[in-house]
Amino acid sequence: VSPFKRGATFSETQSETCELADIDWDDLGFAYVPTDYMYSMKCTKGVNFSKGELQRFGNIELSPSAGVLNYGQGLFEGLKAYRKEDGNLLLFRPEENAMRMIMGAERMCMPSPTVEQFVDAVKATVLANKRWVPPPGKGSLYIRPLLMGSGAVLGLAPSPEYTFLIYVSPVGNYFKEGVAPIHLIVEYELHRATPGGTGGVKTIGNYAAVLKAQSAAKARGFSDVLYLDCVQKKYLEEVSSCNIFVVKGNTISTPAIKGTILPGITRKSIIDVARSQGFQVEERLVTVDELLDADEVFCTGTAVVVSPVGSITYKGRRVSYGEEGFGAVSEQLYSVLTKLQMGLIEDKMNWTME
Ligand code: COI
Repeated sequence: VSPFKRGATFSETQSETCELADIDWDDLGFAYVPTDYMYSMKCTKGVNFSKGELQRFGNIELSPSAGVLNYGQGLFEGLKAYRKEDGNLLLFRPEENAMRMIMGAERMCMPSPTVEQFVDAVKATVLANKRWVPPPGKGSLYIRPLLMGSGAVLGLAPSPEYTFLIYVSPVGNYFKEGVAPIHLIVEYELHRATPGGTGGVKTIGNYAAVLKAQSAAKARGFSDVLYLDCVQKKYLEEVSSCNIFVVKGNTISTPAIKGTILPGITRKSIIDVARSQGFQVEERLVTVDELLDADEVFCTGTAVVVSPVGSITYKGRRVSYGEEGFGAVSEQLYSVLTKLQMGLIEDKMNWTME
């Protein structure tokens, strides 16, 4: 029997008693755990998305000629739900993901769900999988909305049909280091994005494009790769799966959004949190030299949350920043952000949805 009540709002069903799934909640990493339900909604070209539905989680059927398989016409999103001590669930800024999907869909020539459709679908999927939301303090339920050209094409053209899908998985820390600092290598030959390209939207191809450098870096013992701009090769862009911040004194700098960098929702939230905590935040071009001269470096992302950087290696030179744990600044920002996300402090910004 589906625990999801049709027509009920997100909060109305919160009081339902819900048992936790029988898994080891102390051992969550960032690997897929199959859950109970997924959400699916289709639309044909020129027609808006209409009614979606929850389905049992399982494989999907696609034409071998589907636009997403042949020409990469696809986007994804990532957001999280947290379980509070009182059993209620919290979503963090789901409208931001909905708006980012709308922007990305425009770039990729796809129709997209409205903000309301997106958020309602996220709520329905989370509620249907409520037993998979980790207990407080043990992690979160990672929500993965997908938008793809599911109709058949052969010549290069937008797909005649689109599918919006959401699945979820309980997760803990993204990096195997846990909350320990990560070690990055600066990549100066391969690039993630080009001006005028798709680096600023969450299209699936951006992530396939970083696998080669990432695999090589991991084979050498690094946690991940930091990309540079492809023109001058001296300005920071982002890490494969997260944005980067550089701390010097009371100033926190991060590469400005200019089409080649993903506009991270955690990035945006950390900028606001940092300003509210009295830091000066600059969104601008940030050079490798500034990175190597920083007091502290950290990454942000939905999956990684706030991750301290222990060292950067650039052209054979390794610079260490505190390899023990968080730096003072990243620890302060991590603490405020995660307390907000978990409902442990007052949400003055109105970012969480219960
Ligand atoms: C996220 O942080 O949600 C992402 O989409 C990054 C992904 C590679 C896990």
